[in-house]
Amino acid sequence: MNKFRKRKGKFKFLSFAMACLLAVGSIAYAAPGGASSTAFDQKVVKRIDAQRALEHIQYLSEQIGPRVAGTIEELRAAEYIKDQFAKLGYQVEMQEFEIKNVVPHLYLDSGGNQEIRANAATGSGYTDPQGITATIVDCGLGQELAAFPQKVKGNIALIQRGMVTFAEKVKNAVEAGAVGVIIYNNVDGLITPTLTPYESPIPVVCISSKDGETVKQGGMVGTIMAELKTQSQNIVAKRLPNKSNGKTGIVHVTAHYDSVPLAPGANDNASGTAAMLELARVLKAYPIDKEIRFIACGAEEIGLKGSEYYVSQLNDEEITRSIGNFNMDMIATSYDKCNILYADTVDGEANLISDTAIASGARLGKDLLAVNYGRSSDHAPFGDFGIPAACFIWGDDKGKLEPWYHTPEDNLAINFSLAKLETACDVIGAAIYEVLRKPTPNLDRNPLDNQLVTRQFGKLE
Ligand code: BES
Ligand code: ZN
Repeated sequence: MNKFRKRKGKFKFLSFAMACLLAVGSIAYAAPGGASSTAFDQKVVKRIDAQRALEHIQYLSEQIGPRVAGTIEELRAAEYIKDQFAKLGYQVEMQEFEIKNVVPHLYLDSGGNQEIRANAATGSGYTDPQGITATIVDCGLGQELAAFPQKVKGNIALIQRGMVTFAEKVKNAVEAGAVGVIIYNNVDGLITPTLTPYESPIPVVCISSKDGETVKQGGMVGTIMAELKTQSQNIVAKRLPNKSNGKTGIVHVTAHYDSVPLAPGANDNASGTAAMLELARVLKAYPIDKEIRFIACGAEEIGLKGSEYYVSQLNDEEITRSIGNFNMDMIATSYDKCNILYADTVDGEANLISDTAIASGARLGKDLLAVNYGRSSDHAPFGDFGIPAACFIWGDDKGKLEPWYHTPEDNLAINFSLAKLETACDVIGAAIYEVLRKPTPNLDRNPLDNQLVTRQFGKLE
């Protein structure tokens, strides 16, 4: 499969081209800041109910909790999403794909069986579901084989980050006879070390420097569980245009529903998933003249695996018909510094999708969008295929994200704002509907300057 295959130019997708130059009457609504939205924006915005989206976030982040790629929790979330789309009347399928994800758990027996936050190294070996239980032996920096204590044989090596590569440390531990490795950080935070191209035969997990110092006190027995998970899934929900000749454009709306270990992922990314479900509810009510697909992507957190798979399964004709991809990731943070709704694109340049959202934002009086470079979410595989794609995400004025994502604090109590969720849904929902619907110039006027605000998408050349 050629990842960078470009789509063919059969359709002409005009950014900001006027749909028509006729001047007729106007139906539009004043928005704060002197902007005004069209009757069509209002059709969407008035029906969006952020409270309903909140209920989806509640279910995903609290009823299910962390939804790590390949786990039963990820599958439960997929089934929930599938049910929701089916209830709305969408044609829906579960698209399964293979992954390789080592899911770690680290327990310390002498601390009352407490679970320590741990990431598996990329290239870690794995265990059966019972894991391995052994004494934890301090091995310093693990720089050279000779420096490993004898008693590490048959036990778990505790090694500090630094001086030599992670792979060298692990190779030494394997040679010394260790049955598992715990690497602890030398600075704040939790990292996911990579061993590649080395593939360790024993499990390797990484913990924080603080937890490392606790474990180093000695005498502890640890249990490392590192299960290999091999399957994840996307949920794909479709709706064909009302009058379909099979040749219309396709709009792909995406959000990932998986999370990292121990993170309920209320913002990253139950928020985007919930917004997608709410937009699916609102948009099903209206006639459309393009095809819409909603894709809840699995396994994003282990390297965009779900979106890569979905895009790889599109045939040439579907790629040619693709108008664009709206991806939503982390759109409900409560972090007060994150007041810019970024449209991340794979080249940092504006495209049809970012332009459309900036325009709908302006019409709704929400001049808070900015285009940024970013490849860290499911829009990237679409962008790499030449499909205009943007990821919508709240950040601060320097593009920094909220501090809680990928931690247990990414929960509804700490990291949720109904207002941010609603604003993002309004702007993105109005933009999607503008692309999907048939332009009708007499309803598409801005009453303040009598200009047409509609553009035409997916026109045949
Ligand atoms: N939502 C996050 C982070 C993110 C950061 C999205 C910046 C969009 C812009 C996403 O789920 C994530 O964690 N992405 C990974 C990268 C991915 C390729 C595994 C990350 O940023 O570490
Ligand atoms: Zn993430």
